[in-house]
Amino acid sequence: MRDIESREDIEAVLKAFYTKAFLDREIGFFFTEIIPIHLETHLPQIASFWETVLFATKGYHKDVMAVHRHIHHLSAITKAHLDQWVLLMIATIDEHFSGTKAELMKQRARSIATMMNIKLNHEGIER
Ligand code: HEM
Repeated sequence: MRDIESREDIEAVLKAFYTKAFLDREIGFFFTEIIPIHLETHLPQIASFWETVLFATKGYHKDVMAVHRHIHHLSAITKAHLDQWVLLMIATIDEHFSGTKAELMKQRARSIATMMNIKLNHEGIER
């Protein structure tokens, strides 16, 4: 298996990920009911985000936390949801790619999800 080398590779991971995510018992409803996602319009945004993370490009300028804070207000994103999201993302990456960028994508998926959990579910409680 080869490493993630291009935006096309990122798009391949994301297509496979959202195919799983849409059907997932625990988190599927976010994508089908809370904010119905149309992959044709969403994939370019999400691919740009990951291109920025993995290849230090400058194509993504939105505030990912604000997007998810909005979703969280419509329907709470719990730690269990985030854990399931990470599990699916890691499984998907492992099914398609292996190497430094693949490892980096898994590590960033974990760390951003951890940060999201703190910001959505803990911020303001201890301060
Ligand atoms: C349970 C966990 C999560 C759920 C349910 C979720 C759900 C969603 C939904 C419904 C959207 C579409 C929002 C919209 O169009 O208004 C979205 C967008 C997005 N998500 Fe997530 N998400 C989760 C975790 C994550 C994590 C951990 C990351 C990053 C590592 C991430 C990255 C993104 C990005 C980059 C977008 C595109 C935002 C944009 O339009 O610019 N998500 N997510």
